[in-house]
Amino acid sequence: MNAPSQATEGVDWARVRADFPLLQREVHGKPLLYFDNANTSQKPLPVIAAQDDFYRRRNANVSRAVHALGTEATDAYEAARARLAHFLGARADELVLCSGTTFALNLVAYSWALPRLEAGDVILISRMEHHANIVPWQLVAERTGARIRVAEILADGSLDLDALYRAMTPEVKLLAVTHVSNVLGTVNPVREICREARRRGIVTVVDGSQAAPHLKLDLATIGCDFYAVTGHKMCGPTGTGALWARREHLAAMPPFLGGGEMIKEVSFEGTVFNDPPRKFEAGTPNISGVVGLGAAVDYLESLGMANVKAREAGLLAHATEAMQAIPGLRILGTAADKAAVISFVIEGVHAHDMATLLDLEGVAIRSGQHCAHPLLQWFGVTATLRISLAFYNTHEEIDRFIAALLKARRLLA
Ligand code: ALA
Repeated sequence: MNAPSQATEGVDWARVRADFPLLQREVHGKPLLYFDNANTSQKPLPVIAAQDDFYRRRNANVSRAVHALGTEATDAYEAARARLAHFLGARADELVLCSGTTFALNLVAYSWALPRLEAGDVILISRMEHHANIVPWQLVAERTGARIRVAEILADGSLDLDALYRAMTPEVKLLAVTHVSNVLGTVNPVREICREARRRGIVTVVDGSQAAPHLKLDLATIGCDFYAVTGHKMCGPTGTGALWARREHLAAMPPFLGGGEMIKEVSFEGTVFNDPPRKFEAGTPNISGVVGLGAAVDYLESLGMANVKAREAGLLAHATEAMQAIPGLRILGTAADKAAVISFVIEGVHAHDMATLLDLEGVAIRSGQHCAHPLLQWFGVTATLRISLAFYNTHEEIDRFIAALLKARRLLA
């Protein structure tokens, strides 16, 4: 197959790739081929440099010291919040910085849902959620008597929207849905879904962990109540992320964790909490990580998210066409609107065996259940293989992956 042009709107993807030092290394004596980006992305030099610079020149705690370093650290931290907010199409004072999507979703569960839900209420989630968008709601349901209702998917891995809207009955108080499936790559029409939920008075939580690295987001137009992102999947450091929430929710929600930073005044008689978003940011945060996340956002914006999306669409099309030509290989998730994620099974081959053999060829892909057990149960499989591509991957890598896959299959036959 002819590889589509390597350029997208003037971006030199070969130069972009050179910004990622880890991609230059070898694994088992072979050049690394990293196709596990939905699990975590690699980090470009500006992100590594931003963290290094923070520790070399600016390290101090934030929002408490009046000395110069403390002010510089606070400024760097708040500037990163503002850049992330801009990237998401949101306001900085509506963005709670936290360790990632798991924390963000738990914050909604504990601070919004737990005090509000009661027996008879329903939390609606979709079949394609990963565990971070299932388990917190189960914990809330256990403690409140609310029930979980599951919106099913269609055979192509898209959400059954008619069924979803029928499931939005008056008992549903909360809908939690992913923007992009980490297993299927399905891009859900969250704008339409949130509009339908809002019409029925249902509060919406969108898990954006797999969307923020790949799509141009504008939270104001999505119209959700809460949106969660994780930094390490979008070229940022691990342990970073954010919860965006409408101001009225942040104002009404009690704090999740107590401690420093989230207070204005403390006495043994009681505490006056800080204003949102700091009300939800107890303790010393991951300052260098957030500074690195700010650099990651700058990096993605310098590429242009439209270019990122177009580049990854080209890679997805190439990989899909090549994989569909392999007899006995079945792709799970063929929705029309897909991110560059391909889960697949191969007749007669166990996913972990294949992933282990591929690793020996320097090929890093994920195998197993991808933190989404109920979804794999629906497809009737115990494990799949999954490639997840990023803009820094190449068409040549896809060809090399296909060759390695065919070689490994011959060995396993
Ligand atoms: N990190 C998980 C994945 O690989 C959720 O998709």
